[in-house]
Amino acid sequence: MASESALDLCLVAEEAVSDEQDAMIRDCLVECFPDDRQIFRRTRNWHTEPIYRVLGLDGEGVVQGHIAVVEQTITVGGESLAVAGVQSVAVRLGYRGRRIADDLLKAAMAEAKRRDLDVGLLFCREELMKVYERCGWLWLGPRLTLMLDEHGSEVEIPEKNVVMYYPLGVVEFPTGDINLCGRDW
Ligand SMILES: CC(C)(COP(=O)(O)OP(=O)(O)OC[C@H]1O[C@@H](n2cnc3c(N)ncnc32)[C@H](O)[C@@H]1OP(=O)(O)O)[C@@H](O)C(=O)NCCC(=O)NCCS
Repeated sequence: MASESALDLCLVAEEAVSDEQDAMIRDCLVECFPDDRQIFRRTRNWHTEPIYRVLGLDGEGVVQGHIAVVEQTITVGGESLAVAGVQSVAVRLGYRGRRIADDLLKAAMAEAKRRDLDVGLLFCREELMKVYERCGWLWLGPRLTLMLDEHGSEVEIPEKNVVMYYPLGVVEFPTGDINLCGRDW
């Protein structure tokens, strides 16, 4: 049984992720993203390799919560922005409902600020916006957002996704079209 206490948060640079942590991260992601289980059985990464992760560990050191952060230079209205791209926010079923995602997001953005990144950026389904809003994330509204697909072609991000940002070094998100200059991490 999961205890009521929050998880221990552990910040780990990507190059320092151990084989044991890799297996636990993939277990967590397989459980939380069942439609993508074939991918996460093979790799802990989505489309882009992160620079660090925050792991939420239970008393036995098992990964019950996870967030990864990708560093990417994007353009907004032609202006470059160094982004902390949030990847794979996940809390295992036994630990849901305790706002652990908030702790993971806050720790991830504190590290992004320490690393002098301009803004946090994430894509989520509309029904999850409230999770991010309660942690200070802001909806960008309808905004043309381009990315590269798996074939290297420039396309709009999937329609099901909304784009949210978190102010770090840059407080006011610039106006204009967004180009991720790569895949949607
Ligand atoms: C998103 C997630 C990390 C949040 O975990 P958590 O910290 O335990 O969050 P909480 O359960 O405390 O709060 C989440 C809120 O969103 C709601 N929610 C979560 N998933 C939802 C979904 N798929 N559809 C609608 N609402 C959802 C919860 O009901 C809750 O609402 P409430 O506060 O009004 O009760 C967790 O639900 C998860 O791992 N989901 C699967 C993976 C995922 O979708 N990740 C996000 C990718 S953008």
